[in-house]
Formats: sequence, structure tokens, C-alpha cells
Amino acid sequence: MKLRYFSHSAFQITTKDGIVILIDPFLDDNPNSPVKSSEVSADYIILTHAHGDHLGDAMKIARKHNSLFICVNELANYLIDKGFRAHNMHIGGGHNFDFGRVKFTIAHHGSKTPDGQYAGEPAGVLLYVDGKIIYHTGDTGLFYDMKLIGEMNAVDYMLLPIGDNFTMGIDDAVKAVELVNPKIAVPIHYNTFPPIKADPQEFKHKVEGKDHKCKVMEFGEEIDL
Ligand code: NI
Ligand code: MN
Repeated sequence: MKLRYFSHSAFQITTKDGIVILIDPFLDDNPNSPVKSSEVSADYIILTHAHGDHLGDAMKIARKHNSLFICVNELANYLIDKGFRAHNMHIGGGHNFDFGRVKFTIAHHGSKTPDGQYAGEPAGVLLYVDGKIIYHTGDTGLFYDMKLIGEMNAVDYMLLPIGDNFTMGIDDAVKAVELVNPKIAVPIHYNTFPPIKADPQEFKHKVEGKDHKCKVMEFGEEIDL
């Protein structure tokens, strides 16, 4: 499996069978993304919530590539009403797809579409793909149930916000890494806008000070998992 980071919360996963999954593809209006929505494709698009910096260009991409959305029920219904294909799920539920398993977790945040529609609860997502476990926390504050998520899942890559203001800041994110105990922590949701300015190297330094591993992914970088 390959994991590519576009910046902010946007990722692309390419499975060993060549299935492409996008998470929160906010690209065209994202000042840090080296890639525009016209340059990506997707078999599946997973959304953590409906804020504009997560829903992003998802509808544009799905319209062009007939992608299947995977998200919580209310947001899925919103997308279905707009003519898209979606698989409705909800927090605590998992489902097996042809690429692997998806399970939604809680996230402490809000969710509303850019055009003002209710979009259900925000979520984090656990992905079980090609023998690896990725935990994308979505936008969230720190919560102690992360310990339970870590106990029940040997998380390989934890993708978590460090930008503060709307989500965890660096110190809370370091605590989140301690609770989940992933093999590698990857900081996300920083430096896209002035209110979420944060230094990923400071996060890395603090994570390593707690004897955990951190990988600061470059914007556009792709790694083999
Ligand atoms: Ni948000
Ligand atoms: Mn956000």
C-alpha cells in the first residue's frame, strides 16, 4: 500500500491491487497542496466530516470518476440527494469493502456542509488495508477513549491534527500518541491557514521525547507502508 499526503487532512491511499482511496480531498483552495483536484482520481472517497476544508473537492472528483463516498449516514444522504453514490455508515460501525475494512470512531468537533446542511457527527476513521492499520483521527480534540482505540487496534500509522485552534494542538496531540501507541505518528491539519500555524518538527521532537516514532510527511510525499 502507498500513502500520499497532500497537506492539511488530505491523503491518497493506493492499495497493492491498485484501488485508489482519497480521504478529505481539500486540494484546489488549499494553499499547501501541490496537486489540484483535476490531477487525482478515486475509486472511493472517505470523508471524516463536511467542513469545507475536508469535503473540499470531493464532489468534483466523484462526479468525474464515479467514486463511492464512505461517510456517516447524514452526510452520505446529503451526497446521495445530490446524485452521488455513497455507502452510509456511522460511528462505531465497520464494513468490509473490496480494498479492506473501514470503521468510524468518535471525534470531538462539528460538522455542517459549506451550503449549511446538517451533516451528522464528525468522525475519525480506522482503515484496515493490506495488513496495515491506519487511524486518521479527523478533526478532533483530545479524548481518553483513544486509549481504547489503541488497545483494540495495533495502529501502524496515526494521522492526527496538531494545528490547535480548531483541533488538538501539539501538546494534546503528543498525549494522543501516547494513548493510541501507534508505530508511527504523522502530524496533519497545520500551516494551511494562519490560525493553525504549528511547527511539525516541535511535535516530532516531543513525540520522540516520549519514546514514540514520528514521520513528518512533506506536502505531496508518498510513502510505502
Ligand atoms: Ni472541521
Ligand atoms: Mn478542518
